Amino acid sequence: MTDTPTIPSSLVDALRDARFVAVLTGAGVSAESGVPTFRDAQSGLWAKYDPRELATPEAFERNPKLVWDWYSERRAKVAAVAPNLAHFALADLERRVPGFLLATQNVDGLHARAGSRKLVELHGNITRVKCSRCHAIADSWSDASPPRCVACNAYLRPDVVWFYELLPADAEAAAEQAARECDVYIVAGTSGEVYPAAELPARARHAGARVVEVNPTATPLSAIAHDKLRGPAGVVIPALLRAAFD
Ligand code: APR
Repeated sequence: MTDTPTIPSSLVDALRDARFVAVLTGAGVSAESGVPTFRDAQSGLWAKYDPRELATPEAFERNPKLVWDWYSERRAKVAAVAPNLAHFALADLERRVPGFLLATQNVDGLHARAGSRKLVELHGNITRVKCSRCHAIADSWSDASPPRCVACNAYLRPDVVWFYELLPADAEAAAEQAARECDVYIVAGTSGEVYPAAELPARARHAGARVVEVNPTATPLSAIAHDKLRGPAGVVIPALLRAAFD
């Protein structure tokens, strides 16, 4: 049984009084659903695979089949898991505060499946597929590896943001605005190593928000967090909601 960290009463008050709450999540929030993180020393994807071979435009150019098959495997695994208590608690938090935005780095779609609506996906979504040339979203595709776009015949690719690619402009702008305007900024399950997403908590702190980190271990973001709630998101975030709203 994992111990629930103590929730400071001043944080409970801050959450209850908040006009706007913003959240940034990473792979750690989906870990309890069985989705591997990226940088966990043993189980992380990048401990087993080289991101330069699988998650860059050059890698896709070099070996489209390898990249397409790897993402297809991940897509199937994501379809086979379910949101966990952290996802549901964040969807619940959205309904309990006047203003809210959840910005996720996760491409697994689990936040939306848990009922989150005020949600932006900074790194895209693995369940979506688009053309690598005309960017048209494909509703269906052939069994080829990779399949081709029906409009321009270029290869289809997962609608995720690879290294060296820009984030979706709307999602990034919404996440930045929420960081500037929020009273409480919760950063959960991210190592804070990938930019520009990792910059958002510092922007929120700079704008006067109370920054809360939810992570079993310390990260570079711990230095700017007012509260460091050490524990799994599936335990800590429900505990935070119970303390503030039950
Ligand atoms: N609850 C909360 N945090 C957890 C849990 C858990 N149950 N399990 C692990 N963590 C933490 C780890 O301690 C780590 O700090 O989640 C973090 C996961 O970090 P990463 O694997 O680096 O994932 P993330 O920060 O989301 O990666 C950012 O990098 O590879 C790219 O595009 C990919 O979106 C991804 C980005």
